[in-house]
Amino acid sequence: MKIFKDKHTLQKEILKTKGISFVPTMGGIHKGHISLIKQSKKSKLKTLVSIFVNPKQFNKKNDYKSYPRNTKKDLKQLKKLKINYLYIPTYKDIYGFKPKKKVFLDKFSKKLCGRFRKGHFEGVLNVVNRFIEIIKPRYIFLGKKDYQQLYLIKKHIKKRNIRSKIVECTTIREINGIACSSRNSNLNKKQKKIASNIYYYLCDLKKKIKKNYSLFKMNKIKKDLIDLGASKIDYLENYNIKNFKKIKKTNEKFNLFFAYYIKNIRLIDNI
Ligand code: PAF
Repeated sequence: MKIFKDKHTLQKEILKTKGISFVPTMGGIHKGHISLIKQSKKSKLKTLVSIFVNPKQFNKKNDYKSYPRNTKKDLKQLKKLKINYLYIPTYKDIYGFKPKKKVFLDKFSKKLCGRFRKGHFEGVLNVVNRFIEIIKPRYIFLGKKDYQQLYLIKKHIKKRNIRSKIVECTTIREINGIACSSRNSNLNKKQKKIASNIYYYLCDLKKKIKKNYSLFKMNKIKKDLIDLGASKIDYLENYNIKNFKKIKKTNEKFNLFFAYYIKNIRLIDNI
């Protein structure tokens, strides 16, 4: 595993290769990332992982500060996975140049997390656009847990005629059902149990509303979630994941998207 901190040295190295399979991360490597990396390795191209906690996608300073960081542990895991390249850029390496392509932000960025995290998706697209320009990856591996992010990155790539292909990867879950996320490491045992109970409650709810949509009664559901231990609910909405229209009928295929807090830890998922 070769480690790069500077884009020019990285570019010199990857220019020699046939193409790059890219797994962008903010560190805190977990089973979800490991699954992305394993899929990336199947592409037969060289796998490049980045670790960069992007300040521009955090709408609260404290959230940026408390975001889990453990580079030593990350390095150990990535070495074991035998990735080819690790890119750990500085802020200046990423933001010290003007990208050729402008960020395209689809209007779906205003929904779901976009309603509650001002500037978040602008920040995500900004950094991803820069990574793409530096690395020019053939493939980019992204998890479906952050489905809205994945959808918006795809829209940007299409609109700007970028040649990279997004590979959508299944959400990996802990044994207790909760989606793997770096933020889970901030949860204590009791809070993990709450997140798990909420997950199973929502799986059950989805089954019920598939049969009878009139059971989707937001006030009752929000109260149930608070009773289960959620501190605050940002949203809980159903969307058809093909066109991102809100569903109105039971027989449409949909995902239940949700974001909520346990104390000050924000969790998102979709099922
Ligand atoms: O999903 C993430 O970890 C981040 O949003 C990403 C895609 C690495 C951009 O900073």
